Amino acid sequence: MRRGTIIATRTFIDAIRDAGYRGPGAALAELVDNAFEAGATTVRIDFAAGEDGLPVVTVADNGYRMTPDVLRIALQFGGSSRFGSRSGTGRYGMGLPAGSVSQAQRVDVFTWTRPRDVVWSYLDVDAIRTGEMDAVPLPRRKAAPMTCGTPSGTVVVWSRCDRLHGYGSRSFLRGIAATLGRVFREHVWAGRTILLNGERVVAVDPLFRNVAFHDAGAAPYGPSLEFPLGLADSAGVHCASMVFVSFHELPIGAWQSFTNAEKRVRGISKGAGVSVLRAGREIDYGWFFMGEKRKENYDDWWRCEVRFEPELDEFFGVTHTKQGVHPTPQLNAILTPHIERVAHELNRRVRETFLATRVGMIESLATGLAARKDRLIEPPPQRSESAPEPRASGVVGGLTYRIERRKLPQADFFVPACARDEVRLIINEQHVFHRAAYGDECEPLRTMELVLLAAARAEARFRRRGERDILTRYREHWSRVLAAFLA
Ligand SMILES: Nc1ncnc2c1ncn2[C@@H]1O[C@H](COP(=O)(O)OP(=O)(O)OP(=O)(O)O)[C@@H](O)[C@H]1O
Ligand SMILES: [Mg+2]
Repeated sequence: MRRGTIIATRTFIDAIRDAGYRGPGAALAELVDNAFEAGATTVRIDFAAGEDGLPVVTVADNGYRMTPDVLRIALQFGGSSRFGSRSGTGRYGMGLPAGSVSQAQRVDVFTWTRPRDVVWSYLDVDAIRTGEMDAVPLPRRKAAPMTCGTPSGTVVVWSRCDRLHGYGSRSFLRGIAATLGRVFREHVWAGRTILLNGERVVAVDPLFRNVAFHDAGAAPYGPSLEFPLGLADSAGVHCASMVFVSFHELPIGAWQSFTNAEKRVRGISKGAGVSVLRAGREIDYGWFFMGEKRKENYDDWWRCEVRFEPELDEFFGVTHTKQGVHPTPQLNAILTPHIERVAHELNRRVRETFLATRVGMIESLATGLAARKDRLIEPPPQRSESAPEPRASGVVGGLTYRIERRKLPQADFFVPACARDEVRLIINEQHVFHRAAYGDECEPLRTMELVLLAAARAEARFRRRGERDILTRYREHWSRVLAAFLA
C-alpha cells in the first residue's frame, strides 16, 4: 500500500463489512434498489449452498445493463453513476459493494445487453485484505453462471457468505420476504415482482391499507397533512419539497377477537409506530415525532406514514445504509406538534372503542343470563287477575332485560323501568357511578362495595316502622333474585 493514501484499503474492508446492516434483508434491499432504479420489472433472489458449504446468493434483474466503465465504478466504494443525485433512491455509491461485503466474502457482478455479450467484474474480501487486490478488476467478457435470458440485465452473486446468520432455519426466508415486502411495498403494488427462491414476495403494509381480514381493513383518519420544507438547491435557489403525513385506524371491532398469536403474526400487536418512506421505499419504522407521548398497547391500533423525497435527506438524517432516520431538531419542531396531537387523539379513540365494545359484550352477557334465570323467580304480580300471556313461541317465559345508559336529570344513579314482560335498567351517565363502574380506570370490586355501603347508609335514613318493613322486604326479594341470577 502506498504510504499516506487516504483509505487504508486492507483494514477498511473489515471496517466496511460492519457498516451496520440490520440483517440480510436490509443488505439485499440495496441490490433491489439498484435493480428497480435500472428499470427492472423483476428481481429474482435465489439462495443455494455453495461448494464450500457456505451459502451463495444470486440476485438477477432485467433492468438496463451497466457499461464496462460503469460496472467498474459500481464496485468501488463511493463509486456511483448518480453520486449526489436526489432524483431516485441511490446517491452514495456504497449500496452495491457495502451491502454485498456485509454478508459475503466475494461479490461477482455480470451485466449484459445480449445474452452472449456479458461483462463481469468482482471484489474479493480476502484478496483485498492481503493486498492482492487494490483496484476493481477491469471488466471482462465472461459467460454468466446462469442463463441471462432477458434482453438486458444484471446478476450479482454473493459467495462465501459468512454472515447470513440463521440461514437454513425455517424463519430465515420468511424474515427476508417480510423485510423486502415491507420496504418495497409500493413497488410491488406498482406491478414489480421480487421472487425469493421462486416465490413471489407479497407487499407488507404496516398501515394495512390493502389488507382485509374478516372482510375488514384499515381506514384513513383525516386528510393527509402536508408540510412544505424550504431548501436551497446547488445553485442557491430556494425551493420546497413536501413531507406528507397520513394516519390509518385499524378495525378494532373486526380484529380484536383474534388470538394474541394471530395478532402477532398479522403484525397487529407490537406494531405501533411511524413508517418513514424515502422515495416510496420504507427507510425506517419507529416511534418518531411523538414528543412526550409514550407508546402504549392501544397505539397498536393506529398507524402513521411519513413520506419524503431524497432532497430532504439532511432533514431526516439519512445515512448511506438507508435503513434509519435521525430527524434534525428543526424537522422535529415542524412535525412533532402535529403528529403528537393526532397520536393522542387516535389513542383516545382506540381506548373509547375498546371500552364500548367491552362494556357492550359484558352487558349482553348479563342481560342474557338474567333473562335465562328469570324463570327461577316468582313472576311479578299481574295488574289484572289474568294469567300471563304466552309469547309468540307459545311458551310462557320469564322477563327479558335491557340496559340503557342515558344522561338523566335526576340524582339517581340508575332508574328501573319495568313493563309487563321487560325490565329496563337505565344507568345515569351523569352520576359518578357511571365513570367508576365503566370508565377507563374502573375498579369493579371497590365500586360494588361502595354501592352496597351506599345502600346500607341510605337505609339508615328510614327509621319509621312501615318504611323499615318495606325496605326489609325489598332487600329480601332483591337477595333472592340475585341468588337466582348467580346460581
Ligand atoms: N442492478 C443494476 N443495474 C444497473 N446498474 C446498476 C445495478 N447495480 C448497480 N448499478 C450501478 O452501480 C452504481 C453503484 O451502485 P451502488 O448501489 O453502489 O450506489 P448507488 O446506487 O449509486 O448509491 P447508493 O449507495 O445510495 O445505493 C449505480 O450508480 C448504478 O449505476
Ligand atoms: Mg444503490
